[in-house]
Parts: sequence; C-alpha cells; structure tokens
Amino acid sequence: MSSSSAKSAATTIPQIHETIEVSLGARSYPIHVGTGLLEHAGSFIKPVLTRPRTVIVTDHNVAEAILPKVQKSLDAEGIAHQTITLPPGEGTKSFDNLARLTDLLLDAKVERSDIIIALGGGVIGDLTGFAASILRRGIDFIQIPTSLLAQVDSSVGGKTGINTKRGKNLVGAFHQPRLVLADTGALSSLPPRELRAGYAEIVKYGLINQPDFFEWLEKNGAALLEGGTDLLAHAVTVSCKAKAAIVAQDEREQGKRALLNLGHTFGHALEAEAGYSGRIVHGEAVAIGMCLAHEFSQVQGLATGQDAVRVAAHLSSVGLPTCIGDIPGGPMLAEALVEHIYQDKKASGGALTFILTRGIGKAFVAKDIDPAALLHFLTTRV
Ligand SMILES: NC(=O)c1ccc[n+]([C@@H]2O[C@H](COP(=O)([O-])OP(=O)(O)OC[C@H]3O[C@@H](n4cnc5c(N)ncnc54)[C@H](O)[C@@H]3O)[C@@H](O)[C@H]2O)c1
Ligand SMILES: [Zn+2]
Repeated sequence: MSSSSAKSAATTIPQIHETIEVSLGARSYPIHVGTGLLEHAGSFIKPVLTRPRTVIVTDHNVAEAILPKVQKSLDAEGIAHQTITLPPGEGTKSFDNLARLTDLLLDAKVERSDIIIALGGGVIGDLTGFAASILRRGIDFIQIPTSLLAQVDSSVGGKTGINTKRGKNLVGAFHQPRLVLADTGALSSLPPRELRAGYAEIVKYGLINQPDFFEWLEKNGAALLEGGTDLLAHAVTVSCKAKAAIVAQDEREQGKRALLNLGHTFGHALEAEAGYSGRIVHGEAVAIGMCLAHEFSQVQGLATGQDAVRVAAHLSSVGLPTCIGDIPGGPMLAEALVEHIYQDKKASGGALTFILTRGIGKAFVAKDIDPAALLHFLTTRV
C-alpha cells in the first residue's frame, strides 16, 4: 500500500502492523500494534467485555488529544461508558489518587466482572492497573497506551503500582491486562521530549540482548523520532516482542525479568534525587542510567572496547541526556545517589544487584556489587 493510501485508510479501517501474544497460560493476552486502533477501539474491546459497559481512566492531556476518538468508537459499538480524568504527571501515582480513583470507580458502579480501560501513558496505566487489581478483590482492565514509553514498556507485563514517600513503584501488584491496543497514531500529539524519553526504553531492548536491533536504531532512530510511522511500528513491535518473551519466562521477576531494569537502578536514583520533578523524566533518567551501567561495567573490567562511547553517542545524537551533568538544576552528590540506590527495590538483603554488561547486547544480572566501588565510580561521574 502506498503511504498516501495508508494514511487515508488509517482513519477509516484499523491497520494492524502485528499482533504479539503475551503467553501466560490462562492470563495470556494480545498486544495489537498498528494505526487507526483508537478509532476502532470499541470493536476490539467489545468481545472482551462481559456486558456493554466500561469506565475509561485517563489524564487531562490525553483527554484533550485522544479521548473523543475512543469514546466515539465505544458509542459506535453500543458500549456505555463513563470517563474519570485525573491530573497528568508522576505525582498522580500516589495513595491519594488511588483512593480517589477507587472511590470514583465504585461511584460508577463498577462490578466484579466489569473491565475498565487505562487510556494514557505509564502513569495512568500503572495507577489504573493497580486500582483494578484491588477493586472488589480484582477486576480486569485493558491498556490503551498513548505515550511511546507506555507502548513499548509499561503497558506490557502486568507490573502496576504507585510511588510512596520512600521511592518509586514501592507499592503495587502484578496484574496483567486483558488486551493492549498500541496505536502509533496516538503518538502524533505526544510532546517531543516524551517521545524521546520513550525512545530510551526502545534502545534498552537492543542493549539487553539484541545488538542487531541497536544497530538498526543507530541507522533509523532519528527518522523514527521524526514520526516515521512504519519505523515506529517496527520499533514498538520489536520492543513488545522482547518484553513479552522475557515476561513469559519470568512473570514475577525471580530472575531474567530483572534484565529489563538495565539503566533503571541508576535512573531511579537520579529521578529520586531530582525530586521526581520536570528536571528529568523517567526515560531521560534511563538514558543516563544505561550510559552509567555501560561505563561502570567498563570500569569494573567486565566490558572492553568502545561500547560505552557508542551507546552515549547514539543516545545523545537523538537529543537524550547521557551524563549526570546533563541534568539541569545543579550538581548531585554521589553519596545521595548511593543512598537512593539502597532504597531501590533491587537492593535485596542489603546486597546490591545491578544489570551490568559485557558489551552491547550482552547485559546480565550482577549480584553483590561492592558499595565502595560504586561510590567511587559515582564520585567520578557527578
Ligand atoms: N509498569 C511497568 O512495567 C512500567 C515500565 C516502565 C515505566 N513505568 C512507569 O511509567 C511512568 C512513565 O510513563 P510515561 O512516560 O508514559 O509518563 P506519563 O504517563 O506521565 O506520560 C507522559 C506525559 O505525556 C502525556 N501524554 C501521554 N500520551 C499523550 C498523547 N498521546 N498526547 C499528548 N500527551 C500525552 C501525559 O499526559 C504526560 O503529561 C512512570 O511512572 C514509570 O514508573 C512502568
Ligand atoms: Zn523504565
């Protein structure tokens, strides 16, 4: 199909680029990646519902940019719906908003067999998924991820939760969605900074175990971020497949799933130290975290060669930050970062677990990291 006919068709019929199955026995579910899925959300959702009634949970930004399309598609299928719109931003993943959301869902008379919809980025997906996991002892939910980060990462795999004063994602549940609709057309209204942040998580899959995909990203990343629809669909598909494969083997992070945290232990510490503020968003913190993981691996003698430089060069070429000094708002203290790292849930029994690497595509779980070596390394990087 030519690109012009694909464009006009996308508004009338859904174009599924690929469907990926997350294989978890009775809890298996499909991820549809494509365009025009928002406009046809109702027809994908209807067969999953037990009765033609649902509640959409979203945030104000997504309500403005995307919600009417989904509402219209539900109307077209005769599905009654209400919408709960929350404030945007990481601060929404809180106990206060969890209480508010569960009250509103109960006010909307959501029953045990009903299915609710999370329409938004990772914040809405994580909060709504967690609310679904506890409402009436657990109801089902559908993910319609609208940010790139949510399409390639947070909407897949069933991790849900909220932040507490002690750190990110410290309270939550494993609760798989019933269906994921990843419409790359939704990304056209996403602010460029958020698009780049999501891109960092795509790069992560290449760095974990797909060096060929990393190479593909080096060639196509810039064009993808310019909005190349086919490139986006390919990258979202590869990412979802990578995540689905790992989740199918290790749903509850007893082992292999920890690889998905590449760059995240450093990244979470940076986010915490920045006070979860606009100084740095999650994907940016992950970009710096991945660079630090590669550099730390090199300093530890685990990785040789130019891979750390190559990773930083690619991330910076698409406008992502690559070192702690890139974070606006003044310097950070190595000691403070190490303290956050200990708070992170990846520290177990006092021992520090990191995802380190032997090079691009060769990440592994490293246990018992020496705290003194870590502190020394960070002192050289702040
Ligand atoms: N559950 C998991 O496995 C998992 C994995 C990775 C990240 N996360 C979590 O995901 C969250 C980050 O997700 P995020 O980056 O999507 O953040 P987000 O949900 O805050 O979305 C980013 C911003 O983009 C806006 N937005 C989203 N889609 C839009 C659209 N199509 N058009 C216009 N604006 C749009 C949102 O309103 C928000 O302002 C973090 O809380 C992180 O901990 C969870
Ligand atoms: Zn992440």
